[in-house]
Formats: sequence, C-alpha cells, structure tokens
Amino acid sequence: MKITSKTKVCCIIGDPVEHSISPQIHNAGYQALGIDFVYLAFKVSNLKKSIEGLRVLGVKGIVVTIPHKIEVLKYVDKLDKDVKAIGAANTIVNEQKKLIAYNTDWSGAILALKEKASIAQKKVAVLGAGGAARAIVYGLKKENASVFVCNRTIKNAEELAKEFSLDGFASLNNKEMIKSADIIINTTSVGMHPQENSSPIPKEFLNSNQVVFDIVYTPKETQLLQMAQSIGSQVVYGDTMSINTAFPQFELFTGYKAPVSAMRKALIND
Ligand code: ATR
Repeated sequence: MKITSKTKVCCIIGDPVEHSISPQIHNAGYQALGIDFVYLAFKVSNLKKSIEGLRVLGVKGIVVTIPHKIEVLKYVDKLDKDVKAIGAANTIVNEQKKLIAYNTDWSGAILALKEKASIAQKKVAVLGAGGAARAIVYGLKKENASVFVCNRTIKNAEELAKEFSLDGFASLNNKEMIKSADIIINTTSVGMHPQENSSPIPKEFLNSNQVVFDIVYTPKETQLLQMAQSIGSQVVYGDTMSINTAFPQFELFTGYKAPVSAMRKALIND
C-alpha cells in the first residue's frame, strides 16, 4: 500500500519500545487487507505531551505499553468498563479527538491460555501482583477460575486478592499452593532478558500435569518454561498473549475484522 496524505496512522508508545513486535503484527494485517493504514513505534518519556500530540494530529489508534499503562488514564476522555476495573489501559482509540481507553491484555491472556487449557473451575496460581497480574486475574475471574496470587511482597498479594475477591494469596515460596495448582501464570518480569537465567519459582514447585504460562516473551523459552517442558508440563508462550491482544486492537482501530492468520504469520517470520 502506498503511503499518501490520506493514510491513517496508528502507533505504539512505550519506553523501551524497540523490542516491540506490535508494528510487524499490525502492519501485516493492514497489508493483508490492503487498507490505507500504517503503524509506527514511538519511544515516549513525556507521556502527557505525547498523548496531546497524538490526539491533535488525529493518530487513530495508540497501543500503550510499559511504563505508561496506568498513568495514561489521566490523559484520556473516557474509560471502558474493563479499564475501570483493571486500573490500566493498553489501547486508546481517537474518535474525532476524543480519546477512549480500552484494555485487551486480559482477553489476550485468556485467549492464549485457552489454546492449551480450559479455565472454568481450575485452580490457577498467578505469580506476581503488579499491573499485568491485575489484568490477568480480572480475566480469570470472568472465566470462573479459582485464583490464588503468590507474590514476593505478601502485602501486595493480599491487597490484590482483596480487591478482586480472589480465593487466596501467599508468598512466592509457598510450594504447596503453587504445586497443587492446575495452571501457573508468571506475570513477574523474572526471567526476562537480560536475566534469562532466573525463574520466579524453582523446578520442584512444578508438577507434570500443569499448564505453565509465562507472559515474558524475551526470550520465548524462559527458564520457567524450559523447566516445565523438561518434566512434561504443557506450556503457553508469552508471545501468544501479545498476538491475541493485537486482534481486538486492530478491530478497534480499523473497523475491520483482524486477518488473524496473516498477523500470526508476521510473528512467526519475525
Ligand atoms: P507489571 O506492570 O509489568 O506487572 P509491576 O507492576 O512493577 O510490573 O509488577 C512487577 C511484579 O513482579 C510484582 O509482583 C513484583 O513483586 P513485588 O510486589 O514484590 O515487587 C514482581 N517482581 C519483580 N521483580 C521480582 C523479583 N526479582 N522476584 C520476585 N518478584 C518480582
């Protein structure tokens, strides 16, 4: 597609943003449908000024990533109900200079997990109690899972459990709680580049009947997932969550149904 003065612009903002796979995924979707859109990445430190600039320039869709997902709520005009419950947004649509915030992290995580496991009534141990954990426990509760949160700082686990009416909380050292779960989800950054040689929990906390999902995707084969595979557990890779967050974003930005296979292919060819 030729870029012209009519081309609609979408983007991702974050810091760092250079590692993001989102431009490849969205641009592959535009090309597959032959629609007049382009998607760029901007490294953003001054969030307020950046959002105002994107608003007045009429940038149609904005994907928001680390560390701006919470602060961005201050600069938009309307919060969708998921954003209100989670307290964070990863997607903004510019409707004639009115900014509406959405969250597709929770649905992306649930769709990624559903590729490997059923969720209803399952016991899920969520590792971590930060922003990513909030979106994921919100999605898990919607799916009627029994959710336990395990965190280094127990007070943060307790607060999260209370706010989302979870089934329990514990420290990250609670082997019994973690080992007895059907599904483990790592939402901490432990294991992410450049700390590839670390895992939020040791191997003896895993059992071979579990599904282990790590939202870290750099590297794809995190130490946690390597350990899980070595004992025969099923794994869910973090990049499957990223791709599943992109489909509803694409639809919100363009109004077209996302060409799922072309967008998935962009991820594989990356
Ligand atoms: P995000 O928005 O990506 O979830 P965050 O809100 O800063 O990031 O949350 C980071 C989570 O990772 C927290 O649960 C944090 O635990 P604490 O509440 O104890 O800070 C967890 N985390 C970060 N580094 C960790 C480490 N080295 N070991 C264990 N947990 C860690």
